[in-house]
Amino acid sequence: MGEHRSFWRWLTLPAAEPGTPQDYFARLPVIETPRLILRRATLRDAEDMYRYACDPEVARHVLWNAHTSVWETRAYIRFLLSQYRSGMPGSWVIVLRETNRVVGTIGYMNYSADHNTAELGYSLSRACWGQGLMTEALKAVLESAFRVLRLHRAEAMHFTDNPASGRVMEKCGMRHEGRLRGRICCKGVFRDVEMWGMLRSDWESLRNSECGIRNSEFRL
Ligand SMILES: CC(C)(COP(=O)(O)OP(=O)(O)OC[C@H]1O[C@@H](n2cnc3c(N)ncnc32)[C@H](O)[C@@H]1OP(=O)(O)O)[C@@H](O)C(=O)NCCC(=O)NCCS
Repeated sequence: MGEHRSFWRWLTLPAAEPGTPQDYFARLPVIETPRLILRRATLRDAEDMYRYACDPEVARHVLWNAHTSVWETRAYIRFLLSQYRSGMPGSWVIVLRETNRVVGTIGYMNYSADHNTAELGYSLSRACWGQGLMTEALKAVLESAFRVLRLHRAEAMHFTDNPASGRVMEKCGMRHEGRLRGRICCKGVFRDVEMWGMLRSDWESLRNSECGIRNSEFRL
């Protein structure tokens, strides 16, 4: 009986302290923007996600391969669920308010508590490209990263031959910091990468400027 109880104690992860990064990553608070809702993934999102994740054009400039079955999408969602459960960096799904369908993901690829930095990444269904949607999502996530997670620095990278992603980062006020030659081996090919960053001080001055991100636009 004693052994049985300690087995279950081992299985149940202790709840993260409120206000800590682990608590934030476990909850990933819902973010609402004018056209989008960002929320945690559930297995019910698999069909919607598979619909765009099977598109080779969507997968062309990311580290993952286009999904070949909805089972792969479910495996990815299970990975996200395990990240939430353990308070590790993960992604929101992007829900288009107009249709209530999941059309992409955005979130934390890496997080360093020692340096208080995180790396962001995203992808969006091809049907939604070119409407400013990822810019809207990334602005909101940066707001959450600095205001709620209280990062010192957020960074993001894109392959040099994927300038649309760089333009999203630029429109969000991130700064281009340089090119890392042959930085990432993606699907067997070493590719050049553009590094973008935003410091807390950059974000604060953007918020205070006329053209900056207005708090009232986003409910976290
Ligand atoms: C990259 C991606 C996220 C962009 O999302 P999006 O919602 O279409 O982006 P937005 O509409 O907010 O902004 C795109 C900007 O890039 C510009 N753009 C598009 N193609 C471009 C190109 N070939 N060269 C330069 N700029 C380009 C658009 O004109 C727009 O800028 P503008 O508003 O000044 O006109 C989306 O295309 C995507 O998910 N691609 C597949 C996955 C991926 O590449 N993820 C990023 C990995 S780092």
